[in-house]
Order: sequence, then structure tokens, then C-alpha cells
Amino acid sequence: MKQSAILQLRNVTKAYPNRASFNSRPTVVLDNVSLTLQHGELLGLLGPSGCGKTTLLRIVAGFESISQGTVEIAGKVVCNKNSSVAAEKRNTGMVFQDYALFPHLTVAENIAFGLKNRDRQQNKSLFTNKKSFDRQVKQRVTEVLKLVGLEGLDKRYPHQLSGGQQQRISLARALAPQPNLILLDEPLSNLDVQVRHRLRAEIRSILKAAGTSAIFVTHDREEALAISDKIAVMCQGKVEQVGTPEEVYLNPRSHFVAEFVTQANFLPAKRKGRVWLTEIGEIAVSKKDFINDRGVRETSDEGDLMLRPEDITLTPDVTATTVIVEKQFLGREYFYCVATASGKRLYVRTNLNKAIAVGTKVNLSPNISSPQIFPLASKINKPLVSVS
Ligand SMILES: Nc1ncnc2c1ncn2[C@@H]1O[C@H](COP(=O)(O)OP(=O)(O)O)[C@@H](O)[C@H]1O
Ligand SMILES: [Mg+2]
Repeated sequence: MKQSAILQLRNVTKAYPNRASFNSRPTVVLDNVSLTLQHGELLGLLGPSGCGKTTLLRIVAGFESISQGTVEIAGKVVCNKNSSVAAEKRNTGMVFQDYALFPHLTVAENIAFGLKNRDRQQNKSLFTNKKSFDRQVKQRVTEVLKLVGLEGLDKRYPHQLSGGQQQRISLARALAPQPNLILLDEPLSNLDVQVRHRLRAEIRSILKAAGTSAIFVTHDREEALAISDKIAVMCQGKVEQVGTPEEVYLNPRSHFVAEFVTQANFLPAKRKGRVWLTEIGEIAVSKKDFINDRGVRETSDEGDLMLRPEDITLTPDVTATTVIVEKQFLGREYFYCVATASGKRLYVRTNLNKAIAVGTKVNLSPNISSPQIFPLASKINKPLVSVS
């Protein structure tokens, strides 16, 4: 059976008037964004700061208008350039980076606030029996506290909780009214790294247990890869690629996605017969054609070879022309920066058996079986991907 979409963005564009000068063009913050989210799916929205992630979330929530396109939630158009359904009528829940809990209300009161508020604003009770309204609110508060693993903390105030606990309460508050969609805007950014790692797994299992669809905004690639069913990678107001974490990591469709998601290096490469020649050696050609992102086939004998940091092996050699210029010990691995004879800097990740001092000359060998070649960044501004 085909899953139905809970959220559909079609060609959404958002432009702000440019106040710098009277005649200047509006600033386009979202550029023709189309996205689909299926019921129960968790979409990671990944991109660098300022690329438009929060704006997109605020549009879905109903806090921002749009300049072009349409947004549909559960099959109903909730906004186009002329009209917009009010935020409180969209049945979405928000979780913010700073938790946004009411400091003067207890945990139970914070969660109940969301429930009572929804009843008031939608003029339609979640609960059928009015007489026992308070009892049912209490029951739902207990249920969601159990869901987020914080039973028994209902009488505490936010300041009596850790950051991680406050964020789980904030998630419980958003989940309590059983929304169509939960929108989380960098919810883990205020937490320290250990809590962040634990909580990202917990948030995923809580959302899955609740069966709720969600968009999880982050600028942290590892977080997006770990938590999402599907990732949309954004750059400067555009969605560059949508796919499963594995698809986006293994088959990036543009230089930007490759660099942002996998920290890939690029080396100019020329095809000569059955090999690609690069500054650090030859790689057998396994795919001849290029295809650009509009689906038009192109062939080229030159391009940028993608090399992930884990795709390069380092071997010390006093006669080599590449030198280690930086070394970072990251606990489970070393992360090196090397400079080639032409001055190009490449990043390399190795296991702990490979401690090599800064200043050591090394040979680099690429260990990839099917090279991914992109158009030369300097020549073509449209991303190409290799054909399999
Ligand atoms: N109200 C506004 N008026 C003008 N520009 C805005 C407004 N809100 C956001 N922007 C701009 O939109 C761009 C995207 O912002 P935002 O969606 O917050 O990015 P992100 O969440 O990815 O960091 C930024 O360049 C920001 O300055
Ligand atoms: Mg933001």
C-alpha cells in the first residue's frame, strides 16, 4: 500500500524585502523548495548556519508567509502566496533549541498547558468526556512522561531538571496533543556532547514509539545521519539532495553535499584510456559517463575526483613529495592534513596504528573501487554525478 504524505512542500520560495536600498531586489531565503514527508517518517534537515532551515520550519508551523508555492499538511493546503491557515490550527508541535518551558509551571503543568491550549484553540476537545477532563489531562501527562522516560518528575520545576531532561519535557509537551507533525529546531545544540549523543538516539525512539512524523533541523552531519530516516541537505536556500543517510553519504550529488556530509577532498583528475590520472596516482576508470542533475548525459575527460578522508592510505617515504602538516588525535582515530607538491591540502583519517609525526613525508594511495567524479568546480557550477 502506498504511504500517504503528511507534509508536501511544492516549489516554496520565500523572499524578504531588501531594506538596504529602495531599488534592490528582495533577498531570497528559500528558493523553489519541494519536499515530501511520509506518515511516521523522520526527516533530518541538514545545512550550514544561515541556509534557511529555521525559515522552512517556521513556514510549516505557520509563523511565516511564503512568496510562491504551496504547503500541504495531511492532504490540505495550509498556505500559498495568498492565504495561510493559522499556526494553532495546523496541529503541529514545536521543540526549540532553548527548550522554551514555562519556568513558573511544574513539569505536569507545562505538559498540560499544551493539551488545554490545543483544546481551546481548535475548539475541539481531544477528550470526549468533558466531566472528567482534568482526570484525562492528568492521564495523558502521565502517558507522555512515561514515553520520554521521566515518570515521577511531574511536580518538579524546569530549573530543577538537567538540560537533557528539560528537552525531553519539551518533547513530551509537543507530543501530548498528538500532533500531525513535530518540528524540532536544533533541539540538541545547547547540550554537552555526551548528553547530545544519548538524547539523539532517545528522541528517535520516542518519536518512533509515538508514531509521529517529524522534521529534525540540525547543522551537525553526524546527528542528521544518526537520527534520520531521510535527510534533506540544504545550501543557500535550496535543497541539494534528499535521500536516506546511506544514499546521501555514499552517493552525494554535488560538491557541496560531498564536502558538507562526508568532508570529502577533491582532486583534479584527467582520463587517459582506462585510468584517471591524479596528482597522487592513477585510479581505474569504472564509469565513463557523467550525468548532470537535470538528467542530461555528458561525457568528459576531466573532473574532480572525490576522495573521502577514509579513502586515502598514508605510507611514510623519505622520497615522497607530500608532507603531513597537521595531526589531530581524536580518540578512536587520527585526523591528518597533508600538503601535496602542488600545495593542495587533503584530509585523511586513519586508525590508531598509524601515528605519523607532523613533518613526515608520505605517499598517498587512494583506495576506492568505483571513483566518483564531479565536474571541475572551477568550470561548471551545476553538480554532476557519475552514472552507475
Ligand atoms: N525576518 C527576516 N528578515 C530578513 N532576513 C531574514 C529574516 N529571517 C531570516 N532571515 C535570513 O534568512 C536566512 C536564513 O535564515 P535561517 O532560516 O534562520 O537559517 P538557518 O536556520 O539555516 O541558520 C539568513 O540569511 C537570515 O539572515
Ligand atoms: Mg536556525
